[in-house]
Amino acid sequence: MNSRRKFIKNVAFGTAAAAISPKLIAKSNFKPTGNFKPVVVSTWNHGLPANDVAWKIISGGGKAIDAVEKGIMIPENDPSVTSVGYGGLPDRDGNVTLDACIMDEKGNCGAVAFLQHIKNPISVARKVMDDTPHTMISGKGALDFALSKGFKKENLLTPEAKKRWEQWTKEKNYEPIINIENHDTIGMIALDKNGNLSGACTTSGLAWKMHGRVGDSPIIGAGLFVDNEVGAATATGKGEAVVKIAGTAIIVEMMRMGKSPQEACELAIKRISEKQSDYKDFQVGFLAINKKGEVGAYSIQKGFNYAMHNEDGKNMNDAPHLLQTNVRTY
Ligand code: GLY
Repeated sequence: MNSRRKFIKNVAFGTAAAAISPKLIAKSNFKPTGNFKPVVVSTWNHGLPANDVAWKIISGGGKAIDAVEKGIMIPENDPSVTSVGYGGLPDRDGNVTLDACIMDEKGNCGAVAFLQHIKNPISVARKVMDDTPHTMISGKGALDFALSKGFKKENLLTPEAKKRWEQWTKEKNYEPIINIENHDTIGMIALDKNGNLSGACTTSGLAWKMHGRVGDSPIIGAGLFVDNEVGAATATGKGEAVVKIAGTAIIVEMMRMGKSPQEACELAIKRISEKQSDYKDFQVGFLAINKKGEVGAYSIQKGFNYAMHNEDGKNMNDAPHLLQTNVRTY
């Protein structure tokens, strides 16, 4: 077994890793300096206006957890973003169902899954985190909880999304288009001026999914993971592929053991390519930051980009990728 494969094997997440080498996971090799460089990064183009709101909070001395919640609400409220919140493409039966999660610097987290009729699932997830003893509420329970907290019940299926769904029902061909129908989630991770990390992730999930399907985005350790000692990571793309490797959890664990955010994202994508033989048929992108404010991003396919905002300004960046060209083109 070459050393890279050995490394990947040894960072298996959870109890299996503990069985392999308690020393490896007992203490981080990573030593944050204390000179924190605040930064916010978000997946895809819709991350840019989301980052604007988040950066305003962070640059004003606010908390990363507030920044990620408020920032991510921007695409949730934007009907032109068809993969998040209001305006999201529906499932195969025409229902818009939303997933979201949020995690703070203390390891507190909250999530909602299969939530309907509420425009800002990220804020419901925050309420789950702040106001309940639980970490996830789903379906009707999540809707009832949201209503009890004063959220408004709304129709989230816009005329445009309805039209696209009606078009799809003519053939009902379930073959998500890379970077379009599985170009989905906004994941945002941030480091504030006090050196605290937080993250948030929200999506309407794969277009034309089975009713009740939940992807990676509300699952802590899959769509999002934050460890304030080390770093944070978020994911986008085909959720099933991310869940199968506990994607963001292993990225943070790799950073804990000394890998840079870039190396950790690349190793997670390589893990997918080694374990999932159909990896050329879908997109997954990972985005990570560490306590030093360093950023990494990597995807399977070309086309994944992310927005970054720090003290030097803001920009969009194309992530490097495993495959040199999209295998399926349209
Ligand atoms: N990454 C979003 C989803 O698969 O639902």
